[in-house]
Amino acid sequence: MPHTPAVARTLPSLHRAIDKLRARKARVALVPTMGALHEGHLTLVRQAKRRCDKVIVSIFVNPTQFAPHEDFSTYPRTWKADIAKLAAERVDLVWNPDVKTMYPDGFASRISCEGPAVADLEDRFRPHFFSGVATVVGKLFVQCRPDIAVFGQKDYQQLRVVTRMARDLDLGVKVIGITTVRETDGLAMSSRNVYLSPDERRVAPTLYRTMKACAKKIRAGDDLVTAMTEGAALISGAGFALDYFEARHAETLAPVASLADGPIRLLVAAKIGTTRLIDNIGV
Ligand code: PAF
Repeated sequence: MPHTPAVARTLPSLHRAIDKLRARKARVALVPTMGALHEGHLTLVRQAKRRCDKVIVSIFVNPTQFAPHEDFSTYPRTWKADIAKLAAERVDLVWNPDVKTMYPDGFASRISCEGPAVADLEDRFRPHFFSGVATVVGKLFVQCRPDIAVFGQKDYQQLRVVTRMARDLDLGVKVIGITTVRETDGLAMSSRNVYLSPDERRVAPTLYRTMKACAKKIRAGDDLVTAMTEGAALISGAGFALDYFEARHAETLAPVASLADGPIRLLVAAKIGTTRLIDNIGV
């Protein structure tokens, strides 16, 4: 039997609901989302449930991580379907503040991150992004006071940034990264995949296929720079406008030149038509 989760929309109601969840010393997990939930998010919820007694999912499309030309106003919003999915997963609480509750009039503070946030990857193309993410995730951690927070590895740089931030600011939250959930052809699940036309959708798995082939070559001892250059050419040749295809240290995101500099993560961002896709894998 699905069990409709409680929904909090104000801070006092959130705190009352959390006090209830915490009765009898329950461990609480938070899964931060912007809604438009798909199997990838539901995997995060299941992983959260395995690790904690109670699960909170936040649904908040965060304006401060979108640039003016980006898709904040058109970002998919699917509240009814989201709640039905969370009910089926027996989520305990949904935190769904509006923009004024998250950023009241006069709001004038930002969390500014360095280290993995200035790795010359997403930050090169979306300079506003990580301070927006760090600010809202920092607020979500303080508001929900979870023991753990569960993020997908698909936004790999984001995962590194929030992991670093939670440690640096002593937020008392353990950040857990969960393996990316993929469609059967390898495309990483993303709320933005709905933007792809049928032709673009057919081409989209090229990103994953190319990363896998490059990772295999690098593991086999092929020259890393050559493998990455050939991979980049394949991605562009398939019709993508490539923002970056990079081999980086999996923790620090510093550039690497060979397997010896590892552990290595390959990260890609590319536009197909008007849709920008990101993905990554470990070598
Ligand atoms: O990955 C996302 O969906 C968002 O960046 C997050 C972490 C919920 C912050 O708004």
